Amino acid sequence: MCGIVGAVARRDIVPVLTEGLRRLEYRGYDSCGVAVLQYGVPRRVRSVERVANLAEQVDHAGLSGTIGVAHTRWATHGAPVTGNAHPIFSCGEIVLVHNGIIENHEALRKELKTFGYAFDSETDTEVIAHLIHHMRKQDPTRDLLVAVRRSLRRLRGAYAIAVFAKSDPNLVIGARAGSPLVVGLTDRGNYLASDPMALAGTADRFVYLEEGDVAVLTCDGVKIVDCGGEAVRREVQTQRASHHTTELGPFRHYMQKEIFEQPSVLADATERVQTLTPTLFGANAPHVFKEVDSLLILACGTSYYSALTAKYWFESIARLPTQVEVASEYRYRESVVNPRTLVVVVSQSGETADTLAALRHAQQLGHRHTLAICNVAHSSMMRQTDLQYQTGAGPEIGVASTKAFTTQLVALFLLAATFAQARGVADAARQAQWLEQLHHLPAALNGVLALEPQIIRWAEAFAHYEHALFLGRGMHYPIALEGALKLKEISYVHAEAYPAGELKHGPLAIVTNEMPVVTIVPNDALIEKLKSNMQEVRARGGLLYVFADEDAPLDDDDGVNVIRLPAHDGPLSPILHVVPLQLLAYHTACVRGTDVDKPRNLAKSVTVE
Ligand code: AGP
Repeated sequence: MCGIVGAVARRDIVPVLTEGLRRLEYRGYDSCGVAVLQYGVPRRVRSVERVANLAEQVDHAGLSGTIGVAHTRWATHGAPVTGNAHPIFSCGEIVLVHNGIIENHEALRKELKTFGYAFDSETDTEVIAHLIHHMRKQDPTRDLLVAVRRSLRRLRGAYAIAVFAKSDPNLVIGARAGSPLVVGLTDRGNYLASDPMALAGTADRFVYLEEGDVAVLTCDGVKIVDCGGEAVRREVQTQRASHHTTELGPFRHYMQKEIFEQPSVLADATERVQTLTPTLFGANAPHVFKEVDSLLILACGTSYYSALTAKYWFESIARLPTQVEVASEYRYRESVVNPRTLVVVVSQSGETADTLAALRHAQQLGHRHTLAICNVAHSSMMRQTDLQYQTGAGPEIGVASTKAFTTQLVALFLLAATFAQARGVADAARQAQWLEQLHHLPAALNGVLALEPQIIRWAEAFAHYEHALFLGRGMHYPIALEGALKLKEISYVHAEAYPAGELKHGPLAIVTNEMPVVTIVPNDALIEKLKSNMQEVRARGGLLYVFADEDAPLDDDDGVNVIRLPAHDGPLSPILHVVPLQLLAYHTACVRGTDVDKPRNLAKSVTVE
């Protein structure tokens, strides 16, 4: 989704701005731009092509300067055309980039037109630039900070902004409410970014702005005021934003690299756990765990599917009533609050607007106990919950989530097992068995990844279909949902997932000899039921593509394609079964020639509603 970089330094900041945009590319965007103050004049270059192309244009135009802002835009208001790309100018004086959505932009646009402002773009962002210009004109001191703060008070919606003015050649102002923004500190200048990864190699000391904060950056320092206008000090965090993790290495795409990183990231995530103890989830967890009698898990997309899988674990192994809800639905419905419920938000980025809003909604309703399960340590969700668990997948660049999903599953399984321990529903032998199964996961995953050549052969056939069904039962049903999501996201094949028992209640009507039906067949208690469901498909000529456990009792049958996974039983089976589905989606997309890591219309981190 949109990305921001801003800079004020004692050096030419253009290379930092363009490199920052390159590092934010993975988030998804459809246009980009850079603006600097050069010899006292704001100059900008914008493009609807990739950042590499923008960088060439910037070079060609000879852009340089010591203050500037840059942006990758993911279109919401107005088409992805150059005229709507940021930075946005107001009257050749104010230069601004913005992430988020201004909900009252129409009313503000009307009002600003009455003051004589002409609009050059269809964006909601342009109202902010004009508003700042207008507020500044009204103020005899012409103070940019005063104008920004007065303007922000008029905005409804979510924003992170970076702004500079022609007549203030030494400062850049950043502000946030609802969208993340971080300040990067160095001895030679100060920087802004929507994600610290943008500043890797430039800064390693960061200040995460809080809701409503406004930061004034000069070469020599940073002043922060809170939403009430009071000067505040925010903690400085030293954090080396990792370089190497964005290298592709021998892989064709980041998604493939990230699928193959799963054994090592899962090894890191599981090896550090040798006993089940609530403190894994924060210092206050032992106290909170005692009070909790149920769970409410809020998430979106793939993270929602990890939560759906975990519901089976929470109820079966921890005997804890668990409700899982799509965050964008929960935030707008009337719900009943049980103060003994632990609200868990699950998110790779920790910045997803709907999940963040659902968390705040739950807190406003009176939920006292909250836990974030996130991949990004200092993300908004991690900072707004009383308990935290970092999944440790490392940066995930591909828009389609893979290693972030399996590490979420590990975190959620650990949570379920820890609750089982804390609630006294699992004896020591059972706990030891779970830990052993967790520690065996990386080896088991290597066995599954070795199936790639067989999956590539399937993908060659699969790539010709326009529709597919995915079936699973029990805790593998959410895995079917995730498999279908992966396929549609990156290959654009229309895919739906059903609990296999639901087939006869409707979807069977679309099964013909043109319909591939991917079925997840673990060797568990439901296998005979699943075999009956597969017969229902075969009887209608449907083409079965079955991922079965090695020891699953299946008859060889004409027209049924089977790939056997290394034998594995126990509750962690979903973590193994999702991997071949990731590979199937990946290789199908490769055959179809799509932009695997940056699928159309999608963004890595969805920071707008
Ligand atoms: C996954 O492949 C998707 N790109 C998407 O569904 C994602 O999981 C969703 O937007 C939630 O993101 P989060 O985990 O960062 O909150």
